[in-house]
Order: sequence, then C-alpha cells, then structure tokens
Amino acid sequence: MVTETPATRPANPRFSSGPCAKNPAFTLDTLSDAALGRSHRAAIGKDKLKAAIEETREILGIPADYKIGIVPASDTGAVEMALWSMLGARGVEMLVWESFGAGWATDVTKQLGLDAVVKTADYGELPDLASIDFANDVVFTWNGTTSGVRVPNGDWIPADREGLTICDATSAAFAQALPWDKLDVTTYSWQKVLGGEAAHGMLILSPRAVERLESYTPPWPLPKIFRLTKGGKLIEGIFRGETINTPSMLAVEDYLQALAWARSVGGLEGLIARADANTKAIADFVEMRDWIDFLAHDPATLSNTSVCLKFTDDRIKDGAAFAKAVAKRLDTEGVAYDIGAYRDAPAGLRIWCGATVETADIAALMPWLDWAFEAEIAAQA
Ligand SMILES: Cc1ncc(COP(=O)(O)O)c(C=O)c1O
Repeated sequence: MVTETPATRPANPRFSSGPCAKNPAFTLDTLSDAALGRSHRAAIGKDKLKAAIEETREILGIPADYKIGIVPASDTGAVEMALWSMLGARGVEMLVWESFGAGWATDVTKQLGLDAVVKTADYGELPDLASIDFANDVVFTWNGTTSGVRVPNGDWIPADREGLTICDATSAAFAQALPWDKLDVTTYSWQKVLGGEAAHGMLILSPRAVERLESYTPPWPLPKIFRLTKGGKLIEGIFRGETINTPSMLAVEDYLQALAWARSVGGLEGLIARADANTKAIADFVEMRDWIDFLAHDPATLSNTSVCLKFTDDRIKDGAAFAKAVAKRLDTEGVAYDIGAYRDAPAGLRIWCGATVETADIAALMPWLDWAFEAEIAAQA
C-alpha cells in the first residue's frame, strides 16, 4: 500500500540536531546591531559579551555564585577544558550511553591516561545510576543526542558528594530543567536548543568546581586555549566576557537575539513546553503505528530534543539501508532535512524537537513519515 502524498508540508523542513533550526523570529536583519569590525575588548564588545552571560544566568536560573564563561570551540571546547583542567585529583567515573559520552570516556582514558571506571549502556538505555560512587568525579551527558535518552532528573546525584559532577548538557540546556545544585561543571553550545551559531561554548562552574581549579594543578601541560587559572587563581575576566581569545561578534549578536526570543516565549518554562509539545506530536504518531518506535526504552528517559526513532517492521530487509532511504526520500521531497540517525548510532531517524522547531511543522511532517515508509516498503519489493 502506498499512501497518497500528504497535502500539507512543514513550513520549515529543518529538523537537524545541530546546528538546529533558527528561532521563528530570526532574520539576518535582527543582527544589524552586531559590533562588527570593533574590538571585543572595547566597551561595546565587552557589554555584549557580559549581556550574553547575564541573560543566560537569568533565563536558565543559574545561581549568582556560579561562574559562566564563553569559551572557544563550541561545546567540545567547554567539555575538554573541564576534563583537562580538573580531572586527576581523585577517581573518575565516566557514564556512557551513546556516542558523545563514549568520546569523552576515550579522551579521559586514552588521552589523559586516567584509570577511570567506565559505566556503559546500550543505545536506548542508561547505565545503572544507583551504582555510581560519588567520591569520584563523575562525567556524563545530560541528554544523549545520538540515542535520544536523557537522565530523568538529578535525584540520583547526592547533595553531599565529594567528587565533582561534570555534565555535557549541550542538547538539554534550554529544553530540560537542570538542577544547578547537583551540577559542578555544565557545558553547552549556542547551536543547539537556541538555534544559535557554533564556535563558542558555555562553561558553567559551581563554587566547588572553582575550588578544584584553584587547588589542583594537573600533571599534564595545558594549552593557552584551555587555561582557566593564572598563578593558582581563577581568571575572573573570562567569566565577565573577557574571552581567552577573539570571539565572533556576529555569533554573539545571534546568541543575544536567540535569548531575547527565548524570553518572548516565556523563558525556560516556555522553551521546555515547546520541546515537550514537539515530542508529544511524535509520541502520538508512534503510538498509533506498529512499524516505528523510540530508541529510548523507558518513557521517563525519552529526550524532548533529539528524538531518535527505529523501524520495527519485519518486512524490512536491510535496516540501515532502509532508514537511509527513508531519510533521503524526505530530504529530496524537501519536507525534512538532516533526520538520518547519527553515524555511530543504530539505524533510524532523529528528529530535533528543541524549542526553535514549531509544533505545527512536526505535526505536518508525521504523515510524510507514513508516506516515505510505505514508499520504501514498496520499493524493497
Ligand atoms: C552531547 C553532545 N556533546 C557534544 C557535542 C559536540 O558539540 P559541538 O560540535 O558544539 O562542540 C554534541 C553535538 O551534537 C552533542 O550532542
């Protein structure tokens, strides 16, 4: 059975998991106030960088005694800075349940050479969170972008932990509630839930993380781009917008525009509601079909940003080729770009549901999944 071509198309077919869709209020004109051709150390540049930090604090509800820095190299830069600057002081546990967490574990064990405990789970699952020894530093990804599995909350992290928690929250920040009292280091990139530009990362430090930086010097060398302290003291300027090296003021302006849009839709609560509504539109669709399912096994851990789907129909002969063909068909039709599963993840689709995506577009996409699925089943035969 080949279903008919659906009547409605998503107005915006951009469902990539990063860089994610720009927010609906974005046009290039909204960047016209960018401090282009000016020094980022001039008052105009510094003011914008400071505003980016303080508006981030306001919208995410980050405590006043936490430090927020804009750092080089997107989320990866922020995570690597934390790993290289802080680890080695005590034992380390790495939590791995998808590709990015696996990458951090490789860095820590192979590059830093630390004898870390690595707790892994298959795509779709979480490792046993009850088994973690918080006397160690614990490194984890809040939302696994490539499996669509997130930790359900921060209840599994004790308030009186001895080690630090280092959390890659890049596909969670601005879509999921982050319990700041449980997070010592948190990172994200502008290009994810806010649909900003890549290049810069955000590094958020609790007072305990700052204490670690000021009391511990790792045995390995640190390039300038990673250095957060000087003479054993935190370089405070980084956390006021005096960046380590030159940032893109165009990207900064774009981030400020995204933050203003975030406020206009109700701040964090509004952003979470938008991501939840997008995910529900997919969940309603999945529930009515017996040929598609979430990669996430437990609904309590289902991501509301990087929603990963697998095909479960017995008629499918080659799962990977089938999923690729569905994604390609939707791309060629111009109704969904970039929704193939991540290269290391199980075959399937990944549809970004973060706040910048409109629920009407997700809803409009669903009948096209029926259409592409049936067309590929027919093409196989
Ligand atoms: C969980 C996670 N960590 C890290 C990254 C890398 O982010 P960036 O390319 O912004 O450095 C990504 C990108 O998708 C991600 O999803």
